[in-house]
Amino acid sequence: MKQEYTVEYFKKSADFLLSKVSMRPKIAIVLGSCLGNLADLLEDKVIIDYKDIPNFLISTVESHAGKLIFGKLAGKEVVCMSGRFHYYEGYDFEQLVTPVRVFKLLGIETLILTNAAGGINKDFTNGDIMLIRDHLKLMGASPLRGPNIKDFGPRFFDVTDMYTKTLQETARKAANECGVTLREGNYVYATGPQFETPAEINAYRILGGDAVGMSTVTEALTAAHCGIKVLGLSLISNMAAGVLDAPLTTQEVDETACASAAKFQKLMISIVRNL
Ligand code: HPA
Repeated sequence: MKQEYTVEYFKKSADFLLSKVSMRPKIAIVLGSCLGNLADLLEDKVIIDYKDIPNFLISTVESHAGKLIFGKLAGKEVVCMSGRFHYYEGYDFEQLVTPVRVFKLLGIETLILTNAAGGINKDFTNGDIMLIRDHLKLMGASPLRGPNIKDFGPRFFDVTDMYTKTLQETARKAANECGVTLREGNYVYATGPQFETPAEINAYRILGGDAVGMSTVTEALTAAHCGIKVLGLSLISNMAAGVLDAPLTTQEVDETACASAAKFQKLMISIVRNL
């Protein structure tokens, strides 16, 4: 039988977390592939395994730890997701709303979404960090498909300021302060797990895409629906298919993401400080 999603369903996860953790962060951070080590920097950590949270999902990707980590970053309470959920793992789009809806019930007001992405824009290079201005979702259903839960938001909802402009300004200021160069552009959502074809990447470039990845968009849409502000950051871990004359490998994606971890961490601390 198909699961019926209700506020009570998501409240079960949130109530469990509220009973385990005394912190009440307003900021949540989703850490992308190999960017999870930001969580090591948190102070006063409380770590909860996804598998212990009722009605939550489980990470199936190796480079995703599968833990919620509460703690303090730059003196502010935050909750980090080390490991996220993707459509390619076999989850339905409807299931992918879970973490963000649980965040909403925990009182989160600002969501920082990070990811590793392929560079479509030929001015980008491996290791660049791109501020997401907007996204292109050219395939797959919406995670908000199905009966609408009014307690979270309206049936039809506006996404013109989904990647919130005031947060983009904060990120620019924070990057400037800590001396990290910030690229900017549009993130293209591809469901994966295969990387894209060179023809697809060409098409995305013509349509205005700057980076491509298999995450983030489902979470951003869920946040926009329930009124959480979103900041999106992509670490360009490789140039997308066909940009360079070389095949793509997961090893390259992971190696670049790990090599850029220090720069990424510096930027994240500066952003949280400025929030
Ligand atoms: N394509 C899709 N997802 C990705 C890529 C890519 O090139 N790199 C990292 N995640």
